[in-house]
Amino acid sequence: MFNIYKKIQLKEVTKRDNEEIDMEGMMNGNNNEKWWKKAVVYQIYPKSFQDSNGDGFGDLQGIIKRLDYLETLGINAIWLSPVFKSPQADNGYDISDYRDIDPTFGSLDDMEKLINEAKKHNIRIMMDLVLNHSSNEHRWFKEAKKSKDNPYHDYYIWRDGDEGVPPSDMKACFGGSAWEYVPEIGQYYFHQFLPEQPDLNWENPKVRRAIYDMILWWMDKGVGGFRLDVIDQIAKEPDKRITINGPRLQEYFKELSRETFQKGDLITVGEAWGADTERAKLYSNPDGSEFSMVFQFEHIGLDQKEGGEKWDLAPLPFKKLKKIMAHWQNELYNCGWNSLFWDNHDLPRIVSRWGNDREYRVESAKMLAILLHGMQGTPYIYQGEELGMTNVQYDIEDYKDCEIINMYHERLEKGYSKDEIMKSIYAKGRDNARTPMQWDDSANAGFTTGTPWIKVNDNYDKINAKSQVDDPDSIFSCYKKLVQLRKDYPVFVDGKFTLLLEDDENIFAYSRKNEEKTMIVVCNFFDKEIPMLLAKECEGMEVLISNYKDTSDMSVLRPYEARMYIR
Ligand code: NOJ
Repeated sequence: MFNIYKKIQLKEVTKRDNEEIDMEGMMNGNNNEKWWKKAVVYQIYPKSFQDSNGDGFGDLQGIIKRLDYLETLGINAIWLSPVFKSPQADNGYDISDYRDIDPTFGSLDDMEKLINEAKKHNIRIMMDLVLNHSSNEHRWFKEAKKSKDNPYHDYYIWRDGDEGVPPSDMKACFGGSAWEYVPEIGQYYFHQFLPEQPDLNWENPKVRRAIYDMILWWMDKGVGGFRLDVIDQIAKEPDKRITINGPRLQEYFKELSRETFQKGDLITVGEAWGADTERAKLYSNPDGSEFSMVFQFEHIGLDQKEGGEKWDLAPLPFKKLKKIMAHWQNELYNCGWNSLFWDNHDLPRIVSRWGNDREYRVESAKMLAILLHGMQGTPYIYQGEELGMTNVQYDIEDYKDCEIINMYHERLEKGYSKDEIMKSIYAKGRDNARTPMQWDDSANAGFTTGTPWIKVNDNYDKINAKSQVDDPDSIFSCYKKLVQLRKDYPVFVDGKFTLLLEDDENIFAYSRKNEEKTMIVVCNFFDKEIPMLLAKECEGMEVLISNYKDTSDMSVLRPYEARMYIR
């Protein structure tokens, strides 16, 4: 009964808006025709990708210049971290005009040019929607703080209070109180991030409508999809101390999707730090009523002390990593969709984190790529990951990230030693991912002819795109091949996942199986040689890709060795 009702509803949407949706597939939860299921997305952090005018900041013209490179890699979509107008208190995650481009990055014309040029390279552009908060320099906020009866006042979340006595002791994610006082009106506003990022009031239907109109405006310009920043934090109820997974979240997601995304053939991915598999199944429901997929972070928090913050370092519990990744693969099979990622602009470089950025940098970077790209879901490559770019260790003065700087001062005050704090920054600081893209071995790695806004990693003479693009044994070529394999073999998209050797302390292995093919991926996650425990299972299978040239010895796996077999 329920299914039939849903089917009729969806058919109407299809007829009206979206010829390409395979309705049968959607209804049986197996809609493997959606373009984004075969796609690979590349994330660009525009500030650090390519400068075209020598001001030291990456820009849209710079990205246009590098579209050939991205086409060579084979990716299908670019997730562009925010390029909207912004005072850049949090590198663009503080938007002051959702319908304009920040002059640091270029103009609206440049943006339209990027969308159109990318199309010619078969690449769609996903924009990064920051809908939980705006900048305090957004017109809405400037109006809102003028008076309690200003028409924009209720666009934000306010509570009466006396100076120095905030409504509660809730803390913001980047340190300090979550409440900021505006003396002119005797009220506090709520912010989950910086004071420069006031939270929008989603309970106000006018806010929601303004957001939907803005999204439709971008869709009209030919944008191919959206990433939704901290989207599971929009339904907050500060009086109940609820910031994530609020009671009205599902209602908002469905309305947002119905009013906007469902009117086009888009890829949408919600950033959801609070998602477990049950929630993610709703968010990525194959009926298309919410998003295409979410970013979940269960595996990402593993190497920190329990109950602590990300800065409280702990060794990676390897078996738990396997278990969690397998859990997501299995739980979402045919009733949701995973996004696959190791890196993004908030995370340290994976080769430094769970690989080995010294003697086995190439092997371990490839191993991590093979391991991830064989799974079910849409893979995301973060700029420079395809080159095996590494973490950095700068002096504190050279870091730019507000999160790093605030944490540094907070922890110093709390009595942590400088050494201990720096160790945390080296391991987990967001600027690890934000150093300029390493294009070649010329000055500033070919990123800018001026002074880069943040220091370049000084290993750019060895690690750069120029030396890798034409080298068949490079990390770049490994990624390129993985992107191609996903297009060539349907088993990457629809194969059922099974974790193998669950209790093994060194090997991460799994199989993928559909009606035609069986694939087995075997990875030695560590730097010592170990017995190849799946020799029998893999006998006679074809090696699709590996990170060592000769894979004929079926008795051992060398340090970080990865093999992907198929039959
Ligand atoms: C998540 C983004 O990825 C991060 O970079 C940003 O600082 C926060 N959301 C706040 O927008």
